[in-house]
Amino acid sequence: MGQCHNCFNRAVNLTNKLKPEQIVGVSYSGQMHGLVLLDKQQRVIRPAMLWNDTRSSKQRQEIMAKMGHRFVEITHNQPLEGFTLPKLLWVKENQPEIFKQAETMLLPKDYLRFRMTGKLAIDYSDATGTVMLDVNTQTWSQEILDAFEIPRTLCPQLVRSVDETGHIDDWYAGYSGLSTNTQTFAGGADNACGAVGAGIDSPNKVLSSIGTSGVILKYEPQKETNYDGVLQYEDHAIPDAYYSMGVTLAAGYSLSWFKKTFASEEDFTEVVQSASKSSVGANGLLFAPYIVGERAPYADPDIRGSFIGVDSSQKRHDFVRAVLEGITFSFKDILDLYEKKGNQFDTVVSIGGGAKSPLWQQIQADVFNVRVISLKNEQGPGLGAAMIAAVGMKWFNNFHECAQTFVHFKDVFLPQPDNVAKYQKLHRIYQKIYPSTK
Ligand code: XUL
Repeated sequence: MGQCHNCFNRAVNLTNKLKPEQIVGVSYSGQMHGLVLLDKQQRVIRPAMLWNDTRSSKQRQEIMAKMGHRFVEITHNQPLEGFTLPKLLWVKENQPEIFKQAETMLLPKDYLRFRMTGKLAIDYSDATGTVMLDVNTQTWSQEILDAFEIPRTLCPQLVRSVDETGHIDDWYAGYSGLSTNTQTFAGGADNACGAVGAGIDSPNKVLSSIGTSGVILKYEPQKETNYDGVLQYEDHAIPDAYYSMGVTLAAGYSLSWFKKTFASEEDFTEVVQSASKSSVGANGLLFAPYIVGERAPYADPDIRGSFIGVDSSQKRHDFVRAVLEGITFSFKDILDLYEKKGNQFDTVVSIGGGAKSPLWQQIQADVFNVRVISLKNEQGPGLGAAMIAAVGMKWFNNFHECAQTFVHFKDVFLPQPDNVAKYQKLHRIYQKIYPSTK
């Protein structure tokens, strides 16, 4: 696994900066849903299938045809192509000899931890993302395993993100220079760790994260909540807590597509900043960011994006503004689902690309009609993983205390009433784009 090789090298770099004995604890954050298969000798038997591998549409449909809504009752999720179970069924159908050899299923970060400690485990936050965990009982779902004839032995031991998962073993200590005294802690899914690192530890705070894809994520205090699979529902890295999230597949990607296609010579920041020459509503232009299909609130791999209302008076900066606004409207669709369920929140913490531009943060505050806050020293999921190790080591009693030391707010953007009113009207028009173009 090329990715893991990079991680090994990073550990070697770490020991150039710190003495091995100063590194007392290590934890992990990893991309969700990836499938790593090991044989009896604990060797990798095929390249990992990552979260963005969507070859399993057929298997996704078969899961729903066989189990229907019962699947959503058990997992609180729909079996989207990206998730682990449809991938495992793809291997079963297309590479039966590999499936037969498989003894253990892991996610990429669990494989990395296994190579560093020799111990096999998967944490609850990533187990929910396999859609093989029964969220209600917090155990591997025998009903799902039986329905698709998956041996129970494939599923490793479940651990909490803060649980100790052994020390660095002799082989990895020799390889990396780390000490065998260093403890490891299970860690979690990148979105769970990103939420920890942004202080999303109570229901009044929502995370808005813009990378290639975009995520709106909400802390959920109980496992009983169910969005019928329209939003993803996962165990948090915080013990006995959960989170729901909606993914806009092409968030930052819409912007980088636009820049590559229409402004390839220019600096990214300048392109984004040029949107300030336009105004609320982008001079009559609307953009729907479905350029690679969509996940939430419409799980539709076939829908495509649109610019609506193109007019000869518009300039390129209007198009840039329409792209920023369209991505933000897509996030607003997800926030509306929360509001419809009676959820109240007063703060959106913005991280990633959206937090790099004050203009985009103001657009978010005006479209969401909620205050938007950015973070000092934002470090994403890596900081969350470090906080998991700190709580695991009992340096703090809980994540709330830990966040007081590590997570600090920077700028606050308040909704501007005139803009809020304009965006409410525009968002109603935006919401007609999906049904009219699907
Ligand atoms: C979440 C998802 C991605 C991956 C990649 O469901 O597929 O956010 O975790 O980072």
